[in-house]
Amino acid sequence: MFIITNPFAQLNADSPELFTPGLMQTYILLMIFAVIAGTLFDVWHKKSAKYFAENKEKGKKNAKREVSSGERTGMMIKTVTSEVLTSSEFSNQKRRISHLLTMYGFIVFVATTAVMIFAYPTGTATPVILPLLWHLGALSLCVGGYWFWFSIRVDVAAEGKPWYQLSPRADMFILSLLATCTFALLWSLTSAFLMFALFIASATFLFTTVIWSKFAHMFFKPAAAFEKRVIKADGSNEGLPGDFDLSSKEVQERFPDIPTYMGENPPNMGAGIRRESARHY
Ligand code: HEM
Repeated sequence: MFIITNPFAQLNADSPELFTPGLMQTYILLMIFAVIAGTLFDVWHKKSAKYFAENKEKGKKNAKREVSSGERTGMMIKTVTSEVLTSSEFSNQKRRISHLLTMYGFIVFVATTAVMIFAYPTGTATPVILPLLWHLGALSLCVGGYWFWFSIRVDVAAEGKPWYQLSPRADMFILSLLATCTFALLWSLTSAFLMFALFIASATFLFTTVIWSKFAHMFFKPAAAFEKRVIKADGSNEGLPGDFDLSSKEVQERFPDIPTYMGENPPNMGAGIRRESARHY
């Protein structure tokens, strides 16, 4: 059955002279190199490392207290177990579930591809779990990704644009993810060379366009989420004003128009941004 067959070993068995283990392994190494080079170029080109460092310095000046290294380690662990592993930044639960399906699907698909190509390229006794996870990973990415594409993404859900209207730069990441996993599944199902060629073309596009696509967000977002925890803990808060208690005497003295317009004891109305359900992002 195709779902428990190592498709790369099958490829090697069908054309042993062309699709050698060495060729497949070289391709994987080239793609890893393309992602690393693309990410580093992106950091240099956008000057994001410089921005991060300068922002950190600014934050230090505005800090109201020092965050200990123990506290920082705790925040790092919390970032991994919350923002990274459970996509907790998404307030919209549909977006969150779709992101989890896409993210875990991609990780499982990529990891099992590498293990099958490096450890079992000729198929000798590939443990059944590997091709099974490879297919399930691709399927999970397709479920999360197509759901996102057809109904969740902002252009469609909030801007009212039809699903087929593309913004090439913004959409190249999701579309090449979807194409890679869709053609991978179709190739495994049909063994058609055309599907294999489309799978490799999409994967090559996905991994070599990191400088222009949203690919590198998977490395930057965890760093940004950690920084967000730090600025809240040290009180620098990106230079934003703190939460004022509108009924306090000091605040009313500082802003005398509060009692004029809202009375001596204004109610706490909470964060305005939460008044509408999170359906844009
Ligand atoms: C295998 C790893 C990952 C994959 C395949 C993935 C995939 C995606 C996709 C397809 C989108 C939608 C992009 C779009 O608007 O076109 C997205 C957005 C997002 N991802 Fe990931 N992601 C991964 C890892 C992560 C990690 C580790 C984090 C955070 C810690 C993260 C946080 C986010 C956030 C916050 C957004 C919303 C960004 C925005 O709308 O500006 N992702 N991701």
